[in-house]
Parts: sequence; structure tokens; C-alpha cells
Amino acid sequence: MNVTIIGTGYVGLVTGACLADIGNNMLCVDVDARKIDTLNAGGIPIYEPGLGDLVESNMAAKRLAFSTDIEASVAHGDVQFIAVGTPPDEDGSADLQYVLAAARNIGKYMNGFKVVVDKSTVPVGTADKVAAVIQEELDKRGRSDLRFSVVSNPEFLKEGAAIEDFMRPDRIVIGYSDDEDGREALAAMRKLYAPFNRNHERTRVMDVRSAEFTKYAANAMLATRISFMNELANLADRVGADIEAVRQGIGSDPRIGYSFLYAGTGYGGSCFPKDIQALTRIARDNGQALRVLESVEAVNDEQKRVLTQKVLDRFGPDLSDRSFALWGLAFKPNTDDMREAPSRVVLDALLRAGARVVAHDPIAVDETRRVLQLDFADAPALLERISFSSAKDPMEVLADADALIIVTEWKAYRSPNLERLKALMKSPVIFDGRNLYEPGVMKEAGVIYQGIGRNSR
Ligand code: NAI
Repeated sequence: MNVTIIGTGYVGLVTGACLADIGNNMLCVDVDARKIDTLNAGGIPIYEPGLGDLVESNMAAKRLAFSTDIEASVAHGDVQFIAVGTPPDEDGSADLQYVLAAARNIGKYMNGFKVVVDKSTVPVGTADKVAAVIQEELDKRGRSDLRFSVVSNPEFLKEGAAIEDFMRPDRIVIGYSDDEDGREALAAMRKLYAPFNRNHERTRVMDVRSAEFTKYAANAMLATRISFMNELANLADRVGADIEAVRQGIGSDPRIGYSFLYAGTGYGGSCFPKDIQALTRIARDNGQALRVLESVEAVNDEQKRVLTQKVLDRFGPDLSDRSFALWGLAFKPNTDDMREAPSRVVLDALLRAGARVVAHDPIAVDETRRVLQLDFADAPALLERISFSSAKDPMEVLADADALIIVTEWKAYRSPNLERLKALMKSPVIFDGRNLYEPGVMKEAGVIYQGIGRNSR
């Protein structure tokens, strides 16, 4: 099929590359000319395992192309995916300006039946807005005869495992309108996704509003599990229980399950924080408070400070003669995404308390440098006290450190040589925001170790 993707970011690029790989003729368009130039020159603007090879092979096979030409991109695809950003507005609601700009372009340039797919995460009711904008443009052109239908097809991929998630989805949600154009659109969507359903039907067909809601509900449920475990972990610290033992004790109940039960430094990334805010806002706008979800967000904001509070409790409020090693900057492993990363809150607290920091991340150092310029726009001099490394050996940043602070659970941090660690550091102290190690093993090795909710031993 001929398919256009509008917005070539994480979701758009992965969707474009994966749909090309199963044989479709894909055109990915973006307003960011630098991004498109990079892709056309063989580069990949983001870090995502396996994506480079997939893009390269499908470009070579002429199934995947990149362009800034909006008019040509509307002409290309019978199916037009909108995969642009939906960042939070000042009041927390999703900012739809990019989605509606994309819709406007479709209305301006389309010349035949189009299936318009909202892939971006959007509030309930957005498909109606997208349809209204397209219709407005068609009316302006005197082309009200042209037909289209807006479908909701939210994306559930996880950064760091995006290709695997897209290629082997656990569900494909399609929301459509039950009218003639809607049924035609649904048939096109079924055809497009048929290769993913060969052995097992994964498609969940529903009305458009339920599909839009499903994406927010999924992220809200996952974020709730995280904040719930973080609160329990903080209590475990107070009462002398071990949250890891508790996790295993409750996760073995199939009604609960093991996933998303890890205590840590709070959730970050481009989706959970903004989607939780947006759903809370949608509820308020509809006269209902989502009290559980409002607490989920408040707990998460506090959780991002728990790790540095442990540091301040040990070393006091003035860290001006202290030096810390920090492992992990990206909001999670296998990505360079720094949006809402807990490390930014940790770095803010450390640098403003006077500390020096040597930070390691295998991939996200450049992106961190970029976002810290914005975070410290009011105090750029503080950035002179931080240096970065993406060395293969993360132990390099430990030299003379008063403590090691672990924020992201990259594989490279899983089993450090503790004797070498002790020899390198000024004092062998670890604040572990991801509970990577066994407290008993650390104690035996003579390392002072504080995890999240693990102070029972
Ligand atoms: P992104 O910020 O990486 O990419 C968005 C792209 O859209 C940018 O390259 C931007 O230049 C482009 N763009 C903006 N306006 C445009 C226009 N009018 N025409 C053409 N291109 C335009 O965003 P990301 O992370 O890919 O997210 C996109 C949507 O997917 C969001 O709604 C997000 O919530 C959702 N989502 C994101 C996931 C993730 O892991 N990043 C997972 C699931 C959903």
C-alpha cells in the first residue's frame, strides 16, 4: 500500500521503517528539514536499537523515502498517519496545534479518498476536530465532494524496544466510525495490519473515542503501578522491610503480575508525565476529578527527589566540597531520550547544592548537554561543575568520588567490580535509584549501599 507518515519522530520513523519492511511503499514527511536531510544522508536522528539497519535496508529497497514536501506527501498515501508531537500545554492538556496543522495540510492538498489515522496520543474527541479541520479546508477549496475518514490507531511501542514492539504488537487498536467511509477506512487498516495478525488476531476494533481513551488508560494504569510501588518502597525504608522481597511476594499472584512493579526514582520520558497530566485535565474539563491519578503524578514528582534526599541526609545540605559519580542519564536504558528524565531533577539538586558531578551514560551524553543548557539557563555557571563520559568502562567516572549515584539501569552497570570500585572511590558509598544490587552482597563487600525501599538489611 502507499502510506504517508506525517511527523518523522520516534513513532513516525519507527512506524515508517516497520511498515516499509513488510512491503509497503512509505513516505515519511517532517517540517524539520534538518531531520529529513540527516535521514536522506543515511543518518538516524534518534538512538533506537536496530532502527539504523531497518531504515537503511528499506531505503535501499526504495520502499522508504523522506521528504519535507507536504503537498507531495499528501498525494502519495492512501493512508495518512499523523504521528506528530502532542506536548503538554501550560494547563497540562495536550497541545493539538501540530496535529491540527497536519490535518489542515491533508485538507488543503488531498485529491482522492484518504484514510486519516491519528497515531499521536490525543484526547478523546480529537478525531472529530481533525475531521472538522479537513472538511473546512475542503469546503474552502470547493471540493466538498472529496471523501475521507478519520481513524484512531494509538501506538503502544516502548522506546528502547520500539521495533520489536511494533513488529510483534500485543494489540492493534483501531477506532473507526461506523458509516460508509469509516467502514472503507477500517478495511484499509485491516489490510495494512494483516501481516501482524497471521498467527493470532491482535486487532481490537472499537469506536473512535474508546480507542483514543484506551491509550491514556493504558499509560495511566502503568504509571499508577509505578507510583504505588514507590510509595510502598518509601514506607518499606521506614519500617525496615525490603521492597524487592515484597515485589516478588505480590507479583507471583497472577492477578497482580510482575511487570511494572519496580520501585525507583520515578517515571519520566515523553509519554507518561504528559499523558497523565492530559488525562487528569480531560477529567477536570468534564466535571470529574481523577483523584487516584492526581496522586500518581504528585507521588512521582516527589519520588524524583528521594534519591538526592538520601544524599543530602548523609552529606548535609552543603555539597560544595563533594564530588559524585552518576551512572545513567537517559530516562530509561536503550534510548537517548531525556524528556522528563529523573536524572535532570537529580542533577539540578546536586549542582545547586554545590556538588561536582562526573556523569556517565553510554548514549545520552550529547542530548543531556543540550537539555541542561535549558535547565540551567538561569545559572549557566553551575554547568562548569559537571563533566560527562560515555566511555565503554563506566568505572572511569568513579575516581575520587564521595559516592556513586545510579539513576538509569543500563546493562553496563549490572555487575561492577567492587574491589576496583572501592579502590577508585574516595569512600565506597552507592545510592542506587534502580535497586540493581543485593544489599547483603554490598554489605559483605564493605560498600555502604542505599537502594529504594531496601534498607532492611
Ligand atoms: P517526536 O517529537 O519525536 O516527533 C514528532 C515529529 O513531528 C517531529 O519530528 C516534528 O518536527 C514533526 N512535526 C511537527 N509538526 C509537523 C507537521 N505539521 N508536519 C510534519 N511534521 C511535523 O514525537 P514522538 O515521540 O514520536 O511522539 C509522537 C506522538 O506519539 C505523541 O503524541 C506521543 O505521545 C505519541 N507516542 C510516543 C511514544 C514514544 O515512545 N515516543 C510511544 C507512543 C505514543
